[in-house]
Amino acid sequence: ARAQIGVTGLAVMGSNIARNFARHGYTVALHNRSIGKTDALLEAHGGEGDFVRTETVEEFVAALEKPRRVLIMVKAGDATDAVIEELADAMEPGDIIIDGGNALYTDTIRREAAMAARGLNFVGAGISGGEEGALNGPAIMPGGPKESYESLGPMLESIAAQVDGTPCCTHIGPDGSGHFVKMVHNGIEYADMQLIGEAYNLFRDALGFDAKQIADVFTQWNTGELESYLVEITAEVLNQVDAKTGKPLVDVIVDAAEQKGTGRWTVKSALDLGIPVTGIAEAVFARALSGSRTQRAAAKGLASGVLGEKPTDVAEFTEAIRQALYASKIVAYAQGFDQIAAGSAEYNWDLHPGDLATIWRGGCIIRARFLNRIKEAYEADPALPSLILAPYFREAIEKAIDSWRRVVVVATQLGIPVPAFASSLSYYDGLRAERLPAALTQGQRDFFGAHTYERIDAEGKYHTLWSGDRSEVPA
Ligand code: 6PG
Repeated sequence: ARAQIGVTGLAVMGSNIARNFARHGYTVALHNRSIGKTDALLEAHGGEGDFVRTETVEEFVAALEKPRRVLIMVKAGDATDAVIEELADAMEPGDIIIDGGNALYTDTIRREAAMAARGLNFVGAGISGGEEGALNGPAIMPGGPKESYESLGPMLESIAAQVDGTPCCTHIGPDGSGHFVKMVHNGIEYADMQLIGEAYNLFRDALGFDAKQIADVFTQWNTGELESYLVEITAEVLNQVDAKTGKPLVDVIVDAAEQKGTGRWTVKSALDLGIPVTGIAEAVFARALSGSRTQRAAAKGLASGVLGEKPTDVAEFTEAIRQALYASKIVAYAQGFDQIAAGSAEYNWDLHPGDLATIWRGGCIIRARFLNRIKEAYEADPALPSLILAPYFREAIEKAIDSWRRVVVVATQLGIPVPAFASSLSYYDGLRAERLPAALTQGQRDFFGAHTYERIDAEGKYHTLWSGDRSEVPA
């Protein structure tokens, strides 16, 4: 037994992570349900490091030094349970099973408890960065028992992306917290992509830009405060020319967005936690609307109403879109961090938002220059009530607010959908409002259901005798 880590599930993500470990000097035991993938990996990349080829689970487990560390890289779902069971049967107390897939965090909570009962350490680890990140340095969000991190942490930290000498990996918290945090990461990823999509749509339909012109704008934006992986790849995608037609590739791709589930999970969890993640929700729904092909086909030709004039000052409106994007992005991240705080409180995870901002600076899909500012904001005030209230972001929004409003107005006048821009602005206006219409909601609830209300000038709950003499009584 000489391998320090075993990887089972050798599709692209698993293979690349195995190679990443090997390139960092670890001996890696390889296992896959069908040996073909294992041999293909060894044939193509066996020279990159020290691999141990194994065929059966027993052989695989026997190849590992103790405490054994096995990373499972299979498609999240039922397959994961089967693999865990098989491994658990072959492993011994103190060994560590790591699930590196996009598992639902409640599954991870359940699996961790089941493994703990058998003396095994179960680590649900969110891994972000796609194929390229897995190979060259992903962001890793491992949850599970703290003790397991002592032997596992240094290995994960060494293969993770590094930013200013800091690894994009840290122990997140108990049981399902790593996968929870990865789920919210993906929710933010959805919001970010939707916001970028809305900006793109405005360039195309309000300013009449072609894909190349829009690519140039994103390339330019990537040199400033919006600098991020998603903005960078947006320019690359927009610059791609379709070999078959000679048109921009983006213009020949069907405009129906798919999803595998993590964005939807984020919104479901936010509903349960009572956290308004409006940006993420709009992004998930926008994908759903785009995919409603039958309805959309039938709805062509619906009334638009009188449309406004297109903006004439191109440079000015370009900058306004940039500001709207930046401000909406601040809102989306603020909401995501609110959800993390709520999840932490609900499950007693003691999560540290500043740590997450730190490990999301590199490796992951939402990596962005702006995460440095989030890190600083939480360092200055770990109990920040909302990211929007941190001085840096408060000022950024103050600078952007007029442009943000203008973009939403122009989009509305031109009939261009901007669900995430608009709802983020409404969220911001709701957050800062002196009075919300919720007072009326409470009055209505009391009217039809005697649900009671609080008064602004007295303690306690009250009820008005609506169907009686309409006097007020304490509840
Ligand atoms: C990451 C990505 C990764 C994956 C998502 C995409 O962090 O590396 O988020 O997990 O690309 O599964 O999700 P959708 O298929 O739902 O868009």
